[in-house]
Amino acid sequence: MRVLGIETSCDETGVAIYEARRGLLAHRLYSQARQHAEFGGVVPELASRDHLRRLAALTDGALSDAGLRKPDLNGIACTAGPGLIGALLSGLVFAHGLARALGVPIIGVHHMEAHLLAPLLEGDSPDFPYLALLVSGGHSLLVDVSGYGEYRMLGESLDDAAGEAFDKGAKLLGLSYPGGPEIAKLAEHGEAGRFRLPTPMSGRRELNFSFSGLKTALLYKIRDLEAEGPLDDHDRASLALALETAIVESLLDRATRALEKTGHDRLVVAGGVGANRRLRQQLKARCDAEGVRVYYPRPEYCTDNGAMIALTGCLRLAGGAQPAAVPEPRPRWNLSEVTPFSAE
Ligand code: KG4
Ligand code: ZN
Repeated sequence: MRVLGIETSCDETGVAIYEARRGLLAHRLYSQARQHAEFGGVVPELASRDHLRRLAALTDGALSDAGLRKPDLNGIACTAGPGLIGALLSGLVFAHGLARALGVPIIGVHHMEAHLLAPLLEGDSPDFPYLALLVSGGHSLLVDVSGYGEYRMLGESLDDAAGEAFDKGAKLLGLSYPGGPEIAKLAEHGEAGRFRLPTPMSGRRELNFSFSGLKTALLYKIRDLEAEGPLDDHDRASLALALETAIVESLLDRATRALEKTGHDRLVVAGGVGANRRLRQQLKARCDAEGVRVYYPRPEYCTDNGAMIALTGCLRLAGGAQPAAVPEPRPRWNLSEVTPFSAE
């Protein structure tokens, strides 16, 4: 089984080839971030058009990297949701055309399941069951994973996602999109403890997340400071550090509570925010102390990519999943709705 994976749910066009026996053979990625930066967030129409412009060349590039030709593929996997409807359609239309032309099966992949399975790309994956912390631009989820496709939601965001909190905070501080890496870079120059922002949901028994109050707290803090004079670089860096600290501490608090509640001793962290260095270091330190093993994909497999889609599609097709004639785009799709499967 050798599967081409296509990711176009948001502003990254990802294409990759995964083979059941040999693993990942190639992956290519084009990020549209620069095109959206001047608007401070993703413009859906621009995203859909640009995916269509890039897909053919990225596919040819990935095939050539792997030393393959199109007829060597025997399956196509494409993100079917959740995501921006137009962006999803761009990928699905391309994937469907290719699958028809080659006469191979096509499967629609759940974007968050792909994030969740991304540690398998590293060849060092946890045995079931485990806890997953999935933190991206659109989702913050704690998931009890008992098998392939067997996902029970333990907690989710009541408002903004963790990545959204980074992105909106960055906008307030005059930084560009995507905000996570920008905040992290600026925070390196910040003074610890100079400013404090509340840690969202800290100590709460339930396992949900909430980040919109943090954005408001940052806004008020900036207003108070600006009333006394313009912010200097040191102020802005210290505010970035306070924001990053509050988000990371909230994620640590929620994840630790979920580990206690489930008794799991394995934790998978994935999604774009999983690329955050402070989060990775602190989770590792906390988990090492508790005897919990943490699994992260490398940062490039944490943020959106085609490799995780090719992997998930390959596992599902090899596990006997019924390919769809034409997968439907599902802009809203709850992770608990996917079907269980066994990996052969
Ligand atoms: O998973 P992802 O690439 O796309 C979605 O599915 O949403 O996640 C993108 C999110 C953005 O909000 C971005 O600001 C955040 O991940 N992000 C980070 C870092 N790299 C990306 N947040 C914090 N620190 C990072 N190093
Ligand atoms: Zn994602």
